[in-house]
Amino acid sequence: MILTVDQLEKTYRGGFRAVREVSFAVDAREVVALVGESGCGKTTTLKCINRLLEPSDGRILIDNEDAADLDPVALRRRIGWVMQGDGLFPHMSVAENIAVTPQLLGWDAPRISKRVDEVLDLVRLDPAQYRDRRPDQLSGGQRQRVGVARALAAGSRLVLMDEPFGALDPITRDGLRTDFMDLQTRIGFAAVMVTHDMAEALLMADRIAVMHAGEIVQYDTPKALLNAPAHPIVRQMLESPLHEADAVQALKAAAVRDV
Ligand SMILES: Nc1ncnc2c1ncn2[C@@H]1O[C@H](COP(=O)(O)OP(=O)(O)OP(=O)(O)O)[C@@H](O)[C@H]1O
Ligand SMILES: [Mg+2]
Repeated sequence: MILTVDQLEKTYRGGFRAVREVSFAVDAREVVALVGESGCGKTTTLKCINRLLEPSDGRILIDNEDAADLDPVALRRRIGWVMQGDGLFPHMSVAENIAVTPQLLGWDAPRISKRVDEVLDLVRLDPAQYRDRRPDQLSGGQRQRVGVARALAAGSRLVLMDEPFGALDPITRDGLRTDFMDLQTRIGFAAVMVTHDMAEALLMADRIAVMHAGEIVQYDTPKALLNAPAHPIVRQMLESPLHEADAVQALKAAAVRDV
């Protein structure tokens, strides 16, 4: 397992228990989605994994090493991170944003420059055109591609992504998703991806952790969730994508009949 989250607890100052006994494990090359309503503890869980937040209890193992025993800064350099929103530094160019972790790792300038171009190619942004732009000179979808490029820059085998395709129109979102899946298959990193969108989780993830009020109510493959939702919240979250899919199918069938 590249990541094991074991009985994770996070209680914020003031006593609010945001994450409760959360356990899941991620294998190399696996994509796991954390799905759940706003405020259910998804971002808190991700931040405990790379120790942007200190867990209140439980254990995080990265490659079988206890994260609590590792230097938090060194740990964060090992794990790719796509922040909620695009999280780019506004005063820095695309190339400088992507170079942040390689620089901290002490790579020399030619190696960094080559890597910037490589990861821009990976996310389908022409380096010649984009490497010197600032984030405010990019579209939302392009900023999100740069966010993914930055997370991949140091060659991490584990990437944490907080709503990486949030706030985009459906076509851009669909394009980014497809590109991301291709990349993930080709490079083979493992990813924990936070999303509000159950349809996105069903389409992209190998396994899905459905969270509700700080707890995981079901952790299963998309097929198993669809076949045997184990909690009313899971059934409720599956309703709208299934209903939408059925409605589109019905419309399509009717359109074919009418031709
Ligand atoms: N620093 C903090 N201090 C106290 N409570 C916090 C803090 N950060 C988050 N919370 C609370 O913890 C809960 C979980 O927050 P979290 O950011 O993990 O939610 P989320 O699932 O990522 O939601 P969203 O989908 O809206 O991003 C929320 O109720 C939030 O108000
Ligand atoms: Mg969040």
